Order: sequence, then structure tokens, then C-alpha cells
Amino acid sequence: MLQETISKDRPAKNWQDYVVPQCWESFTEDDHAVWDLLFARQVDLLGTRVVSAFLDGIDLLKLSHPGVPDVEGLNAILEPRTGWRTVAVPGLVPDPVFFAMLSERVFPVGNFIRLREQLDYLEAPDCFHDLFGHIPMLAHHDFAEMVEHVGRLGRAAIAAGEGDRAARLYWHSVEFGLAKEHGELKILGAGLSSSFGEAHFALEADVPRPRFTVEDAAATAYRNDRFQPLYFVSDSLDQVAAELEALDPGGLARFAA
Ligand SMILES: [Fe+2]
Repeated sequence: MLQETISKDRPAKNWQDYVVPQCWESFTEDDHAVWDLLFARQVDLLGTRVVSAFLDGIDLLKLSHPGVPDVEGLNAILEPRTGWRTVAVPGLVPDPVFFAMLSERVFPVGNFIRLREQLDYLEAPDCFHDLFGHIPMLAHHDFAEMVEHVGRLGRAAIAAGEGDRAARLYWHSVEFGLAKEHGELKILGAGLSSSFGEAHFALEADVPRPRFTVEDAAATAYRNDRFQPLYFVSDSLDQVAAELEALDPGGLARFAA
């Protein structure tokens, strides 16, 4: 989000204007090896520290298959299951485009992967973050519904001049949320599940972990340049989905009043 990727002389009107071919055949042997390295390292790191829906999604979507996933192959499993599909984009897309995509159950995936020398540093989310972090959860029916709703909330909030609130809500749930599962604290957000450094930090560091509410999350600033200073914790995956879905599209604007 937050960064223009389309040149000024070709202004984009629709989210479709940001979609590019994945060109899976252009990924090099080293790109595939980097995916395999990241995948093995992250699965080992996460263990059972992540919500079970995430691990189920990894299996369902066969993400353990070696090499960078081909988005068409992924879509062939994902779309019949929850109606979500992935599209390739060349980098971050602006917030209005991103939320419009989510509202139509379309998830943008970077058409590149980080270099071997940059395993832990990313200027922009690559396909490992997007595919490993986000897509497994989109195979879960309730989470899939929730993210579509966040897209609708985002569109309405931007139209009402409250886009920052939608971005915070998204950030503190879909990207950096934690959730309880059988009484244990687990990783929920893709920014955590795909991060080597922050996955354990979020669960173990001495930082505040307030209970997730839409009012608090929408009002709390976030950092996109360092680890988060706090992590919102939902009572369960069901709770965060229910709270977000209970919010009507005009709801975020009303918090500002
Ligand atoms: Fe993300």
C-alpha cells in the first residue's frame, strides 16, 4: 500500500490497471532456491506459534511444493474454495486500489522475490510475504469473508476522508494481529507470520498487547519502518472476524465524530 506504481503519464482508473503477468517462467533457479530457503526457515520458526487456520491453508494450497508458487496454480485451488484469487502486481499499490481489490476478493502479489543477500530486509513486500503470509488465511472461510469486508470498509472510509482509520484497522488485524487459540497466544497477521525477526518478538517481547477492538485499532498509529510498539490480541479468529464484519461501511467515519 501507500506507494504509486503506475507512471504519472498513464494514470490508473481501475485496480485492473495495476495487474501484470506474473511471468513465473522468469523466476531464476536462485529465486526458487530463495523461496525454498525462506519457506523452510519460516515453517520451522513458526512451529505451532501461528493460528491453526494458517497451517491448514499451507497444506490446502500445497505451498510446501518447492519453488515460487505459480499464481494460476494457486488460484485453481483457492478460487473454488473461498472465491479469492491472486493477481500479480509490480510492487505496492495505492490504498484505494488495494482496498478495491480486497472488496472483490482479489489479493495482489508482488511479481518478484527478495535477493539472497536481503533475506531479512524488504523495502516492499515481495511474493514471499504476500503468498506465504497472506494466502493461507484466505483459504479459511471466515477470514476470507472478513478481509473482503475490510476492503469494503476501506473503500467507504477513503471516500469519507477517513482512509487512515481503515489502514490502521487493516494493519492491526490482517498484518500484525495476534489471536488467542485454546487459551494460547498465536500469530494471526501476515506481517508476523512471514517475518523471521518479528514473529517471535510479537509473542515474547515486553510490549503492550491490548485486546483488539475496532475502535482502539482504528485509533492507534502503526509503524511501517520497524517492529510494532504494540500488538492487538483478539479473543479468537472468530472474534476479530465478527467485530470487523459488524462494522458497517460508514462505521469508521462515525468513530471520528
Ligand atoms: Fe501484507
